[in-house]
Amino acid sequence: VIAEDPSLPEAKKITIGDKDIQLGEGDVKGLRVKVSGRIHRIRAQKQATFITLVDGYGHLQCVLLAGPLTKTYEALVFAQGTALTLYGEMRKVPAGQDAPDGRELHVDYYKVVGRAPTDEDSITNRVSQQQLPWESVMLDQRHFVIRGDNASMVLKVRSFVEFAFMTQYRKRKFTKVSPPALVQTQVEGGSTLFELPYYDEKAYLTQSSQLYLETAIQSMGNVYCIEKSFRAEKSLTRRHLAEYTHVEAELDFIEFPDLLAHMEDLICGVIDMCMEDQEIAAMIKLLNPEFKVPSRPFKRMRYSDAIDWLNAQSPPILNEEGNPHTFGDDIAEAAERQMTDIINLPIFLTHFPAEIKAFYMQKDPNDRRTTESVDCLMPGVGEIVGGSMRMDNFDELMEAYEKEGISPKDYYWYTDARKYGTSPHGGYGLGLERFLAWLCNQHSVRTCCLYPRFMGRCKP
Ligand code: 4AD
Repeated sequence: VIAEDPSLPEAKKITIGDKDIQLGEGDVKGLRVKVSGRIHRIRAQKQATFITLVDGYGHLQCVLLAGPLTKTYEALVFAQGTALTLYGEMRKVPAGQDAPDGRELHVDYYKVVGRAPTDEDSITNRVSQQQLPWESVMLDQRHFVIRGDNASMVLKVRSFVEFAFMTQYRKRKFTKVSPPALVQTQVEGGSTLFELPYYDEKAYLTQSSQLYLETAIQSMGNVYCIEKSFRAEKSLTRRHLAEYTHVEAELDFIEFPDLLAHMEDLICGVIDMCMEDQEIAAMIKLLNPEFKVPSRPFKRMRYSDAIDWLNAQSPPILNEEGNPHTFGDDIAEAAERQMTDIINLPIFLTHFPAEIKAFYMQKDPNDRRTTESVDCLMPGVGEIVGGSMRMDNFDELMEAYEKEGISPKDYYWYTDARKYGTSPHGGYGLGLERFLAWLCNQHSVRTCCLYPRFMGRCKP
């Protein structure tokens, strides 16, 4: 057992995030502190044991000189994950050595708060790369994986990005609203609806808050929300989740070019904020060393030109049936990604045919086969935003319901916007995880969630 030396100065409680601490150097004493955290890495050497401590705010190198401190039973069972409070003097790291923030804690006393297993049940063994299938082990052990540096950096960038969106919207005087997740209407087609019993009725988990946002602009002006959307996607791709975070906005009294200009401005505002925050910019640099702030304006490309572009490649990029693309084809995920990767710039792909787009989209007055619609495509990921102008004419919307096979009765509250002071308006939805996959260079949207949900996975 070890005891605290009563002749030492009283220790000041800090977190690893506190950077402005007096460091000892030579004969100059540093501040004596106490810091609680968990062992991230441990290296026992002859003269000393080195611990990298983490507490969620950073990494701290801690030195325990070999002797009474390292010989206790507690010290012998130190393991990755062990929670402890370390006491000691904060010193500048010796010349020629490297440690986070250029400092190290010279430990003179500690208390173990919570032990962690050292045996076959240790964290390292639980997330061992030897186990197969590797991806499902990582997902089963997600609660340990998120303790890792990379996983937790992505989640920290995520937190900042949400804050940046909120800040950018506020700067533009958008009001945040919070639409319901339990709904009785569909927005993006019946095939991806999650249905659930709702008392004596049927309800769905929302696919998008768009319709609700469209009913809020009349009183609140431009509005946005950051809410969960749900899609019963039956495919396992690296960009599809069953539950994802949807950043959606709706703008009143605009025309299509205004919508594109706003989307570009907002996305760039968020990226600029990330780059201006030292800590976040450093994380993005570690995760995505090649990242470059996209240049403006984003490339604009009409759907019909994209079809020509795909066919003009050698060899041509084919559609899902293996044929050259023709007007009216959905540009499938693979083709879309090839195109984005070759062009290697953010692209606003616009004017999709009405046939392949959602019922609510406004037709292009110059070519009524097409819609005033836009997908924003990013290299490496493909589509991260989908948006459009909304059908604002009552009769046209009634026709669209009929074509879609949905009952206008259930949508009266949406339709009423066309009856009581209709206006040209539009909006979009951005998949937060897709945005992050692009920003943080993640192979899949799955590592951009705390606990991803997709077909076959609803735990932990
Ligand atoms: O293109 P989508 O389906 O558009 C809508 O839902 C509109 N109602 C949004 C609006 O205008 N308010 O989805 C918008 C975005 C996509 O670009 C994509 O980034 C993301 O939502 N998304 C998904 N992200 C992860 N997993 C899924 N299964 C997704 N489905 C869509």
